[in-house]
Amino acid sequence: MTSTIGTANTPLNHELTRRGLDLVLAGTTDMADAPLRVPLDYYRDDKLAEIEESNVLRRTPLPVMATAQIPNNHDYVVREVLGDSLLITRDREGVAHVLLNYCRHRGAMPACGSGNSRRFTCPYHSWVYDNAGKLKGVPGKEGFDDLDRDQYGLVELPSVERYGFVWAVLTADASLDLDAHLGPMGPELAQWNYQDYGYHDERFLESDVSWKGGLEAFAEGYHFPFVHGESVIGQNTVANTHVYDQFGSHHRIGFPFNWIKDLEGTEPADNWDPRQQMGVIYWIYPNLILANSPVGVEVIDILPVKSATKCKVRHSWMATYPATTDEQRAMYDEIFAQVHAAVRDEDFAMLPQCGEGVRRGQHDHMLIGRNEIGVQNMIKVLADKIGIALS
Ligand code: FES
Ligand SMILES: [Fe+2]
Repeated sequence: MTSTIGTANTPLNHELTRRGLDLVLAGTTDMADAPLRVPLDYYRDDKLAEIEESNVLRRTPLPVMATAQIPNNHDYVVREVLGDSLLITRDREGVAHVLLNYCRHRGAMPACGSGNSRRFTCPYHSWVYDNAGKLKGVPGKEGFDDLDRDQYGLVELPSVERYGFVWAVLTADASLDLDAHLGPMGPELAQWNYQDYGYHDERFLESDVSWKGGLEAFAEGYHFPFVHGESVIGQNTVANTHVYDQFGSHHRIGFPFNWIKDLEGTEPADNWDPRQQMGVIYWIYPNLILANSPVGVEVIDILPVKSATKCKVRHSWMATYPATTDEQRAMYDEIFAQVHAAVRDEDFAMLPQCGEGVRRGQHDHMLIGRNEIGVQNMIKVLADKIGIALS
């Protein structure tokens, strides 16, 4: 099999479908040049996890919120990212803000949950902030002399909203260059119009596995028949077969559905749209998976929790066409329940075993196959950033 790496990426059109069909008919997959050996410390070393957090995760633009989750002015959501409480808002001009949800008086949290509000009142002494983070009110202000309210707003993190997500760097004085970060992945993402999707729902889970190991489960189809054999993923897709394309550090994988074979001998037409013929999954370095299906997208972000081998998964789902009726909402509920069950009861039922394997194993390295090219890419990109040598 010829690897496609190093050649120009195939656009999201019938050429991609053609590549998927050819692989399925030939019974093979895109592959890396060689297997990759990865030292167990890559997954289990807490010192390395600290370096990752300070040098990578707190310095790289992270997609902290989908545009569709805060569609209207004054919408807000509070979420935790790497232990930080973030208040993510849309102000009266429609501009999104990512604010540290810690009061400038003595640190209590002015906001919680989600909703629509112009003001947030800290529960401790009732300092009031607007949804751009500006301090607007201080009870008993004579106690604070001539407090300059402009100097005491909520701390704002660098952020930008594009391609259907609000991206933020978790370090307040850092710079953010999204174009440099995404490179060719920017225009690729733009094709999906995620900003027009309908946000549906989200679930969280914690698991005793490295955040990297968790993400890797979404970068190969090698495990599909074994882990997902009883569910729709295993039943709809062709095992151990994928089209792989690299976009800068990031990648795209197309997992052909079984019905792609029906295209054999036909000429490209509307039904050759790759979005109908394969599950298109992106990895956006460092921590985002976008798993597209013909009806919507799973937005999965995974981050470490205090240890190299413990992670938190945020799994949300957005519909290509926002629901307008109760029937549609009920159908989306069912789809999300099904895909979440696959993640929770299949992938994350298996993954803690890998966590245990890296914590307790006394072998030297893991061996990542040529057919696991997406996993190899994730490891190579991150290992390079944190200075780990691979062979
Ligand atoms: S801590 Fe927020 S008002 Fe005192
Ligand atoms: Fe899986």
